[in-house]
Amino acid sequence: MSRSLSEWRAPVLMAGESPRYSYPVTSTDSSGALVRAEIDVAALQANAALLAERLAPARLKCVVKANAYGHGIDIVAPALFAAGWRDFCVATISEALRLRELLGDEVTITAWLYGPTTDLDAAVAAGIELGVSTVDSLDRLRDAAHRTNTTARLHLKVDTGLGRNGLAPADWKRALEKLRSLDAGLESDEADASAVAPGLEIVGIMSHYAVADEPERVETAQQTHVFDSAHRELTAVLDEAQGRLGESDRLEVHIANSPAALTLSPFPGTSARVGLSLYGLSPLDDQSAQDLGLVPVMRLVSQIVNLKDIPSGHGASYGLTFTAAADTRFALVPGGYGDGIARSASNRAEVSIRGTRYPVVGRIAMDQMIVEVGAGEVAIGDEVVIFGPDGPSAAEWGTWADTINYEVVTRISERVDRVEVDGSTEAQRDSFLEAGGTVSR
Ligand SMILES: Cc1ncc(COP(=O)(O)O)c(C=O)c1O
Repeated sequence: MSRSLSEWRAPVLMAGESPRYSYPVTSTDSSGALVRAEIDVAALQANAALLAERLAPARLKCVVKANAYGHGIDIVAPALFAAGWRDFCVATISEALRLRELLGDEVTITAWLYGPTTDLDAAVAAGIELGVSTVDSLDRLRDAAHRTNTTARLHLKVDTGLGRNGLAPADWKRALEKLRSLDAGLESDEADASAVAPGLEIVGIMSHYAVADEPERVETAQQTHVFDSAHRELTAVLDEAQGRLGESDRLEVHIANSPAALTLSPFPGTSARVGLSLYGLSPLDDQSAQDLGLVPVMRLVSQIVNLKDIPSGHGASYGLTFTAAADTRFALVPGGYGDGIARSASNRAEVSIRGTRYPVVGRIAMDQMIVEVGAGEVAIGDEVVIFGPDGPSAAEWGTWADTINYEVVTRISERVDRVEVDGSTEAQRDSFLEAGGTVSR
């Protein structure tokens, strides 16, 4: 059932009654989780459509690693699938296998992070496409393919300057030589059926940018240049092998992440691996999500569970790092670092209650935080928006916690209930526009 955000948060008790609740008590409350992350699937689908339109003719690969950046893979992946998206990326093999279970065989799943002893057989057998960042893994993947009697579909990953995963220049040359020698082995041993089956198909070449979120920096163009020449070299090897190791003109070419997808023109590659912006968050310092036409997908909410008068001079929370300067009121709000809310935002963060911002005072604890509401019109049971639509942004929490919006959403822990909300996109878009936000397409 689709329901608008205003319905979701409609008061259920009349004025004068106490306590007041600012959203209906529904069956979703019965689990007892006090903090919940509302996941707006309509916003997610709208963001995906917007990004795909922007990227075309390049294709959108939806990055859903780390529990869909904390949003909940069980909600996010089926919602993207329902909207027609079929290309997914994760980091690890266990994430990839989980996704295969969730979405079945119709989707392409790419994973790129595994270790020297990771069992690759299950991934290869499940048709997971794997990034290759070491020469050794070419051998291991070929062995896994032979053991599981299938073909390993691989994306060679080039380190074009990030210095993280990917084949460094010398290893890149060795990987190409290994491919050439594999192919030569096949040609010389055509009578042997097992040798004729290469076990490998190179389906892609990939890399990752280091500073695409800082459009003025020259390193992005330098990385693209290195990537382009690696692509040419791989094309030559595949063409020499005449299709036995994969078709050069069908190679998937991908280096762009969210910031690159939003800023680079001409666009490098045939597809982009997009994570953060799918979730309606901006990877760019000088453009907000609203500026980019994106709608935040996660809204982290709690409620006031205690409210008390506090005399001037009273302290707040562990360490008593805050002292009330005057008589005031403290609201107790469930939500702390056990829920993934950063303790480093103590005494800096704000939350929103009935549309008004209030400061978080004292240290954020494992399970709860104190909000100074003073003389504000609030009551026990009121909804507290920690971040997301109608509250502070994840980017603001990033600033308060000395981190980035990526981490703010991704670290939201298992204790928090993820609740699917649908049909709110239009309402949210309208409220952004009313608040002075711009939507550009
Ligand atoms: C290899 C790789 N590709 C793509 C992405 C997606 O990046 P973004 O969330 O900026 O779109 C990530 C995210 O960290 C990544 O590690």
